[in-house]
Amino acid sequence: MRSCCIVFVVLVVSFSSILCDSLDDDRADIAFKSFITKFWVNNTLQDSYPNTGERPQYWISAMGFDTILDSAERHIKKGQDKQYYFDLIEAFYNMIDKNGWYRPFFDDMNWMALGLLRAYALNKNPKYLNKATELYNIIAYQWDETCCCPKDKGNTTCVTGGLWWNLEHTQKATAANAGPVILASRLYEITKNNDQREFAKKVYTYWWNNMVDPISHQVCDNIEAETAEKRWWKYTYNEGLMIGAGLALERIFDDSTYLQNSYKIAEFVFGNEVTSENVLYDKDGECSGDCQEFKGIAFRYLALLYARDRSHSRLKKILDDSAASIWNRARNIEEQTFATNWSGPAPLTGSKITQATMNAATMALNIHAATMSQMIN
Ligand SMILES: *[C@@H]1O[C@H](CO)[C@@H](O)[C@H](O)[C@H]1NC(C)=O
Ligand SMILES: *[C@@H]1O[C@H](CO)[C@@H](O)[C@H](O)[C@H]1NC(C)=O
Ligand SMILES: *[C@@H]1O[C@H](CO)[C@@H](O)[C@H](O)[C@H]1NC(C)=O
Repeated sequence: MRSCCIVFVVLVVSFSSILCDSLDDDRADIAFKSFITKFWVNNTLQDSYPNTGERPQYWISAMGFDTILDSAERHIKKGQDKQYYFDLIEAFYNMIDKNGWYRPFFDDMNWMALGLLRAYALNKNPKYLNKATELYNIIAYQWDETCCCPKDKGNTTCVTGGLWWNLEHTQKATAANAGPVILASRLYEITKNNDQREFAKKVYTYWWNNMVDPISHQVCDNIEAETAEKRWWKYTYNEGLMIGAGLALERIFDDSTYLQNSYKIAEFVFGNEVTSENVLYDKDGECSGDCQEFKGIAFRYLALLYARDRSHSRLKKILDDSAASIWNRARNIEEQTFATNWSGPAPLTGSKITQATMNAATMALNIHAATMSQMIN
């Protein structure tokens, strides 16, 4: 495909952008090939490259699964490499199956369930749907109305609700609430089980009313049970997930209020989470650990929001410029690895790259290619 495209560019320079909209695809493929070669070794995901044998956390593995699925969807829709991707997905499933699907963190299981639903959409293997449903049932059971009223505001009329983040019940977090809204909505689209649809609405409504700032539309990261303190940690994935939750509800309720809410949250992203050069960022200088993954999630749901209405030029600019910056400024050309900071500089050859950082950049490039070729809708 690539060499064919280069031939076109040489022969018909002036039409190259029309004939070959596959520059994005080439970049996505190079990133994915690098990801899979470096991080999928001996049928096991690796935490970092150069490999140390250490395994990634469960939720980072789920993000690795999403990265595989981004490439799989793009290729399978073009009729390419179907068996390769089906085998890879099955090998991933078997790896998790061997290590266990349950974790004391409900957002982690939710990420995994979302991946399983995507895998199910590709090949309709009922095993994937059943496992996703099993995880959903555990997550949905975490709804609780005994906690937590923000005491700091002295508000005695506040409403309690939301899903617990962890088995220990120490907090309720956006990842474990907006995430399950998306899961429940997508499950409903498959099963038509109205309980799932109503559950999605209940969780979203609670979160929107209580955990989204009514003026700035920043999405609060979490509320701590013991102190009832709302922690407004500013991370792109909080806004991204709540944007995705709004999109998911708009689809199943055909109610544009949810879409409008998602645009309001996107405005917060535009004003607070992109650089002056339109590149998504999460305080990249101090963005370590889980944070390295977050922009990939934000990119995913901003791309879905853009695909919903392609006249939104500000969104397109952020997606285009972030993807271009990942490629041109954050990429090590020798190793095809990427920096956490999408504005660069590129990582040095031989330096440690985490799977989280690699996932975020690889999924963004793949989502960008799929979105701009109108494959996602
Ligand atoms: C993969 O397996 C080979 C052969 O057993 C072994 O030498 C190598 O260290 C393994 N790699 C990792 C990263 O575990
Ligand atoms: C208390 O919080 C609820 C939402 O939880 C809000 O509707 C209400 O306006 C708040 N009351 C005061 C006095 O701030
Ligand atoms: C990210 O990289 C850009 C360009 O190298 C730099 O200007 C910026 O300070 C970095 N951001 C952080 C928070 O380190």
